[in-house]
Amino acid sequence: MQGIDTVSWMKQVARRASAAGRVIGFVPTMGALHEGHFSLVREAKRECSPVVVSIFVNPTQFGPSEDFTKYPRQMERDRAALAKLSVDYLFAPLVEEIYPKGFQTSVIVDALGDRVEGRARPGHFPGVATVVLKLFEIVRPNVAFFGRKDAQQARIIRQMARDLDLDVSIHTCPIVREPNGLAISSRNAYLSPQERKAATVLYHSLEAARQAVVQGERDAAQLLRTVHGAFRIEPGVRLDYAEVVDADTFEPVVHLRGNCYVLLAAFVGTTRLIDNAFVEQDGDLFRVTI
Ligand code: PAJ
Repeated sequence: MQGIDTVSWMKQVARRASAAGRVIGFVPTMGALHEGHFSLVREAKRECSPVVVSIFVNPTQFGPSEDFTKYPRQMERDRAALAKLSVDYLFAPLVEEIYPKGFQTSVIVDALGDRVEGRARPGHFPGVATVVLKLFEIVRPNVAFFGRKDAQQARIIRQMARDLDLDVSIHTCPIVREPNGLAISSRNAYLSPQERKAATVLYHSLEAARQAVVQGERDAAQLLRTVHGAFRIEPGVRLDYAEVVDADTFEPVVHLRGNCYVLLAAFVGTTRLIDNAFVEQDGDLFRVTI
């Protein structure tokens, strides 16, 4: 695996691979890598060669009171793990390389970016879209891999790619969970052992919603009552939002119809975690994937 830390070098390597007709797979990350990230890398390895992984803790997607400075950084461990997965290139630029002095452009995906997670974290999605567009232009991947764990992020990137005619296909991969159901996240590193246990309430509340759907519940308000009920028995965890939204527009729905998400964000102590369930309509049947 080759480590690359400048934009010009990464561009040179990527342009050479494209010119040789190779299919570039790209997995953008903020590091502190875990099984969730590795699942994206494995999928990229199955479909593409070469595979580029980026590690860049992007300051512009963190709010002023968020965890940018304390976000876990473990470059040596990450590098070893990616080499073991036979990743071809690790692109890990410094902040100054991505945002040189005088940088002033921002990409805004309008309506989608303002809803749910965007409303809870103003400025977050413009920060994400801007850095991902930059990374796409540097790497010019044929295929880029994102996790359904950040469902709204994946949807926004797909919209940006469509709106700006980017020659990249966006693949969304399933959520990887701990055996106890907790969605794996770099931020789980902040949790104490008790908090880690309490945090499984996110998964359990989605599982309760899934059971309700299986038993015929189609009413979004009723599903959300089920979710809220699950949180009431875990007072250490504070729900930030729970919403049932259309999977395309991320607008709230009243009744399940077509494809939807049940989206959650919750504070476990001071750590903010997100999770979701994907609801797909198949005729009269609804399949819920957690
Ligand atoms: P990061 O949080 O490091 O996540 C990188 C990718 O891994 C994202 O696509 C995310 O959805 C996916 N991922 C994280 N946990 C996962 C899990 N448990 N199962 C499956 N996929 C998972 O998302 C970002 O970084 C940044 O916003 C980024 C896109 C890199 C832009 O800065």
